[in-house]
Amino acid sequence: VNIPFAIRLATRHDAETIARLSRTEVEYGLPSRWTPPAILRAIARNDVNVTVAHDGSVLLGFGIMEYHDEHAHLVLFAVEPEYRKQGVGRALLVWLEEVALIAGIATLKVEARVTNRAGIAFYRKHGYRIVATEAGYYRGVEDAVRLEKSCGVSTNHAAR
Ligand SMILES: CC(C)(COP(=O)(O)OP(=O)(O)OC[C@H]1O[C@@H](n2cnc3c(N)ncnc32)[C@H](O)[C@@H]1OP(=O)(O)O)[C@@H](O)C(=O)NCCC(=O)NCCS
Repeated sequence: VNIPFAIRLATRHDAETIARLSRTEVEYGLPSRWTPPAILRAIARNDVNVTVAHDGSVLLGFGIMEYHDEHAHLVLFAVEPEYRKQGVGRALLVWLEEVALIAGIATLKVEARVTNRAGIAFYRKHGYRIVATEAGYYRGVEDAVRLEKSCGVSTNHAAR
């Protein structure tokens, strides 16, 4: 079954829900960095997109991507447990990646907890390759795998 949903940029009204999802689905067992004020700061930044999937007033998932000159970094990403495996994560990831592609950014980077089999499988399915393991990346509590994806040819036609 497919649920209806749409993608939009987050507003400050989404900050509490995003912070709660991060605490329970990403930062479990760790001191929480992604508090509501931290989410609000990310929303305010002009080199960051905080993007949500929603069904009307219900937030189904979110992603936070930082766009740098040469690479984009997916810093936080989660879908509500009850709405997983229905393409919500895929739609959010594609949206965030397309922005990087249009900006001519060649490399996409993301980390996942080594024990996060679903997350790692999700990224590999979307073309990310494991490039390294980083000991203690998660506040010294857990190691990370670093994954990268190359966007290939630059789409920055303005440079030609
Ligand atoms: C990883 C996560 C975002 C995936 O979201 P989702 O909405 O379930 O993903 P989709 O339904 O779009 O899945 C797309 C593909 O990813 C893969 N995938 C997703 N969940 C998977 C799982 N639990 N096990 C194996 N593969 C999985 C599948 O190949 C799937 O393709 P399919 O539908 O053809 O089988 C979600 O499981 C989640 O929020 N996990 C907790 C937080 C997290 O791990 N965040 C990322 C790392 S910080």
